[in-house]
Amino acid sequence: MTDLDALQSRATVDLAAATDELSLRAWNTKYFGKTAGEMNAALKDVSKVPADKRKEYGQKANELKVALTRAYDQAIEAEKERTLQASLSGTPVDVTLPGRKPPSGRLHPSTVMLRRVAGIFAEMGFQIYRSPEVEEDELNFGLLNMPPHHPARDMWDTFHTTTPGVLLRTHTSPGQIHIMRQLCPKPVRVILPGMCYRFEQVTTRHEMMFNQIEGLAIGEGITFADLKGTLLNFARRLFGPDRQIRIRASYFPFTEPSIEVDVDWPREDPNCDRLTKGTGWLEIAGAGMVHPSVLRNGGYDPTRFSGFAFGMGPERVTMLLHAIDDIRQFWRNDLRFLRQF
Ligand code: DAH
Repeated sequence: MTDLDALQSRATVDLAAATDELSLRAWNTKYFGKTAGEMNAALKDVSKVPADKRKEYGQKANELKVALTRAYDQAIEAEKERTLQASLSGTPVDVTLPGRKPPSGRLHPSTVMLRRVAGIFAEMGFQIYRSPEVEEDELNFGLLNMPPHHPARDMWDTFHTTTPGVLLRTHTSPGQIHIMRQLCPKPVRVILPGMCYRFEQVTTRHEMMFNQIEGLAIGEGITFADLKGTLLNFARRLFGPDRQIRIRASYFPFTEPSIEVDVDWPREDPNCDRLTKGTGWLEIAGAGMVHPSVLRNGGYDPTRFSGFAFGMGPERVTMLLHAIDDIRQFWRNDLRFLRQF
């Protein structure tokens, strides 16, 4: 049986000696801890007390428990108050200090460019549409004049899904079919921006994922001069009057004739030779007059309607504008790169 008077005086002295929260908590464990708390043990001792003293002992122990608990609660409260007062008076808050600016996010450079390009084409009367990134083989290739086993399919290394005939689009050109079928027989003047995917050898100029901006204009009497004028006008607005544009004859199965559009890399840039393979030019787009059978696949009569189309790479365009020397930077998520835009 515990000597309650001794316990009381020990606990009281100990509590008075506890001067911070840590030692107060330690005191609480010592006396009220579940397994070895002295007060708890004293309470359990009731059963060992001879019957005639039991009531008196039990009462006294209970009173002691209540008193110690109260003393502890008060001591903890007082300690909290002391800490609060110390923090309030120790370092006064300077309310005149400017606040800390939370770090703010920003748009990805490709998004910025997509919006800029969209803005320029919108001013030329183009509407903006989207089309699916997961596409049917038939739309990505077949309806663009590339039936299965057509050798031109080799121009696009493709990610196939496990569903036969469904793939990640390799270009935004299947959007031409979607939009023609949606708008036919009305005239079309749209751009279709979005992601494309290719199973590519990744290099400084080639990525396995990238944006394209597809352009399509269909109407009566649209000519190659309209295509050229549109592309030149676009380049002048984006790159300013000093950059050079070059148009080369090329081949795409869905346009006839077909061209490619290059922009000159800043000559003074030390990476110029490497990035342009010594030519001084970087390709930004393929384009051409929409092939009659593609027009037909979209529902338009090629004897009445004609049109032009282009597919532009906004990451390439951004590289040209800022002399970025590696297209892989765009999806690397390196903040040192992204913060520059
Ligand atoms: N789809 C082509 C590519 O990704 C680019 C292209 C070429 C788009 C000619 C067109 C076009 O609309 O007319 O390589």
